[in-house]
Formats: sequence, structure tokens, C-alpha cells
Amino acid sequence: MFEPPNALYRRPRLLNPLHALGVFKAHSQTNAMELEYLARYAKGHRIALEIGSYMGVSARVIAKELAPGGKLYCVDPWEIHHGRENPCWTICKRELRRNALLDRVEFLHGFSYEMENAMPAGCDFIFVDGDHTYEGLERDWTIVMRRLSPGGILCLHDTTVPEAEPYRQFGTVRFFDEVVRHHPELEWLECCYSMNVLRRKIVTDA
Ligand SMILES: C[S@@+](CC[C@H](N)C(=O)[O-])C[C@H]1O[C@@H](n2cnc3c(N)ncnc32)[C@H](O)[C@@H]1O
Repeated sequence: MFEPPNALYRRPRLLNPLHALGVFKAHSQTNAMELEYLARYAKGHRIALEIGSYMGVSARVIAKELAPGGKLYCVDPWEIHHGRENPCWTICKRELRRNALLDRVEFLHGFSYEMENAMPAGCDFIFVDGDHTYEGLERDWTIVMRRLSPGGILCLHDTTVPEAEPYRQFGTVRFFDEVVRHHPELEWLECCYSMNVLRRKIVTDA
């Protein structure tokens, strides 16, 4: 399978049949190096949450690495387009089915701020890649801080501007620098390209 050309991933309705035929891969803005980090940090976890699943590429990588019996909760609105199923959602389901991962995934169809009650408590791995505005990450941050377990891993996409792509100036970068980077409840682990990785500190009684 080949990477879809830029023009095609902006037209998911055209990409969908080509993905079904096995001609083009599902598209993701998360690059190969970031996907490798996601796989490494998701490994062996049991309750994972992804905000922003799109065509299911990062979901496939995360779900594959979970412990036996582990579950990944994928949150995305996959809004109906002109009365028809969103083609990104069709591709996402196919991507996971082809990799025999459907039974490890629970789909939460809606915006993160609408779906919080359906999300599990005590997540040990969270990947946030949904709304890239300052306010969007601020909203998701509130959810993350209510759902992430002590010792749990948090990966935040597009929270550092990569040197190679200086135009990727999202509100998420400013929110990360202002609020997340030095948050007392989190330990910053590393940054891979645009994605920062943190761990929630385990607080013990002195
Ligand atoms: C950059 S794509 C995600 C890519 C995916 N994580 C991957 O690497 O394969 C962003 C997705 O977030 C979704 N999205 C935007 N705002 C959201 C929100 N508030 N809650 C959940 N999903 C959201 C969009 O519909 C879109 O599918």
C-alpha cells in the first residue's frame, strides 16, 4: 500500500474506496517516529484513551500494544457528511478490522467534551490529538486531569513546533507551554517531533 497524496487525504470520500481496495494507506498527521513512540509508551497498558482518532492510524498502533484484555476508547465526532457516514469513520473501522483489533477498541462517537461520561476512569495511557486550538486543549486538559491515573502516560500531539515544519503553530503549543510543561502533577519525559510525553506523578503520603 502507498501513502495517499496530499490532494487525496483532503478528499476522504475518494480515499475510502481506494483504501478498501488496498491501494492507499489510511492517512495520519502523526509521523512514523511519533507512531513508534506511541507504540513504545502504550505497551502493556490496559485502559487507554485517544481523543481524535480520524482514520484510525494512531488507534491501530496503540491498540496493538495494549496488554491482553486491554481496551482503547477512541473519541471522535466523525460527523455525518451530506447525510452519509463519514468516510474517515469507515476507513477507521476497516483499518482496525483488518488488523484484528476491533475487539480491543470502543468507539465514542462525539466531541470529547460531550463524551466524558462515557470515558473510563483510571486511564493508564492517554493520547490527545483532537481540537488543536488553545481552548480545545484547555477543555481536553480538564478531562485528562480527571481521567489519568497516577503513573499514567500522557502523549500530546502538536504541542511543540517541529524545526522542520515551523508553520505548525497551533494553539495547543501555547497551552502546553503555559499550563502543561511545568505542571506540578506531571513529569515531562521527552518530546518526539511535535509530540510531548509526560507521566502523572505518583503522590505518596510522607
Ligand atoms: C489530527 S486528526 C487525528 C489523527 C489521529 N490521531 C492519527 O494520528 O491517526 C484530528 C481528529 O480529531 C477530531 N476532533 C476534533 N475535535 C475533537 C474533539 N473535541 N473531540 C474529539 N475529536 C475531535 C477530528 O474529527 C479529527 O478526526
